[in-house]
Amino acid sequence: MKISVGPEAPARRAITVRFVPKDALGKIKPAVTETEFSGKANALFYARHERVLHVGLGVRAKLDSAVFRSAAGAATAFLKKIGEHHVALRLDEWPQFAGSAVEGALLADYRFERFKSKKTAGLASLSVHVLAADVAAAKRTVRRYQVVAEATNLVREVGNLPGNLLYPETLAEQAEKLGRRYGLKVTVFAEKFLRARKFGGLLAVGQGSVRPPRLIVLEHRGGPKSQAPVALVGKAITFDTGGISIKPAANMEEMIFDKCGGIAVLGAMAALAALGVKRNVVGVIASAENMPGGNAYRPGDIVTTYDGKHIEIVNTDAEGRVVLADAIAYARRDLNAAAIVDLATLTGACGVALGEYAAGFWSSEDKLQQRVLNAAAAAGENIWLMPLFEEYETQIRSDVALIKNSGGRLGGACTAAAFLKTFAEDTPWAHLDIAYTGHREKDRSDLARGATGFGIRTLVELVENWK
Ligand code: BES
Ligand code: MN
Ligand code: ZN
Repeated sequence: MKISVGPEAPARRAITVRFVPKDALGKIKPAVTETEFSGKANALFYARHERVLHVGLGVRAKLDSAVFRSAAGAATAFLKKIGEHHVALRLDEWPQFAGSAVEGALLADYRFERFKSKKTAGLASLSVHVLAADVAAAKRTVRRYQVVAEATNLVREVGNLPGNLLYPETLAEQAEKLGRRYGLKVTVFAEKFLRARKFGGLLAVGQGSVRPPRLIVLEHRGGPKSQAPVALVGKAITFDTGGISIKPAANMEEMIFDKCGGIAVLGAMAALAALGVKRNVVGVIASAENMPGGNAYRPGDIVTTYDGKHIEIVNTDAEGRVVLADAIAYARRDLNAAAIVDLATLTGACGVALGEYAAGFWSSEDKLQQRVLNAAAAAGENIWLMPLFEEYETQIRSDVALIKNSGGRLGGACTAAAFLKTFAEDTPWAHLDIAYTGHREKDRSDLARGATGFGIRTLVELVENWK
């Protein structure tokens, strides 16, 4: 997508997009009735002869970055659909939201089409002109949001790849490729190293697959040498069959998206490097394929993690927490992380609790908790604070080991979080369960089906504003 910024519409006859709060319907020319255009968020009214597309913003008091992102996305997606590829976004009245609008246009511009013989009509990329009063300032914010959205679309493509094409080794290759492009140091730990260093959790989950696991470490050293890094940890199960505790057949294909936590870490690291953020940040991605088979780990197995803790496996489908145990322990012990934030498509229970509208959020420390809440609010991503009652820890006590990997159905998302906390020990830790936010089943007017990149914006905000 080509993006330009200027004080006036470009010479080319671009379609102008006007952003209209509900209270400003009266100013539209030609005049519209409320049935023609409600002014509700993402409602569209196309004045063809004027070559203006009006997009609703809803109630003025509720305007925020998410409203603009979504409105710009819905408007540009519509214009593409009718074959208009030159767009001028009128943001001179809304300089504070220029970045979010561009972000929305970029995110709406992407769709996973690599394997479609017949591409969607009008898919050709857009050229977007941002109309702004203060051009220099708009250029700066637009660039910032463009960097994040482009990194997001790159990793959405990786997220959308199926299990036969994307598995731990090829995910590691993608990370290396992204690392070269964005200037990140990437280290990939393969089986030999994982065995020698006793990453027992990651190895156990991966052992049922012919595709061996990988631990992928990405580093951006933007701060002083002595500064303890922020660690971003991601679950990347490239396909989750459930293993021996196998999942039912219905919708199992959705489990190609069980790598979306890892994808979010990849995208955030790329964006942080591109933005040259002056802080040390390390990404740790635990990747395995969870398969049944003659060598698969089984219910009843006792697994020893990287930090020497023993887990009783009671359900091989609760595999995410087992690979994350190693990754979190690694971030704490070997990276000396100042704080750990993990993202994982961890539990169906989180989707039952919150639906697809918010990610579940847990934290062991107040200051980190506030930082993440602030970051998500600024990023316009919905996260919802969930509890860490001691009872959840009781629920996952094991008779034969330190802990068991499932506490059953009740409070499933919370017992999973309590499990992870054990491996962070005293290091400030936060956890986002993105089970139903990391990907979506159906197209939305501003976002195509598939991997969403959820969490990237929050992570980037979090690290950018870490003082
Ligand atoms: N990857 C799944 C969670 C998931 C489910 C993500 C649906 C996205 C959509 C995870 O590995 C899993 O299977 N969790 C189990 C845990 C249970 C066995 C304790 C679950 O949610 O059922
Ligand atoms: Mn599972
Ligand atoms: Zn899983």
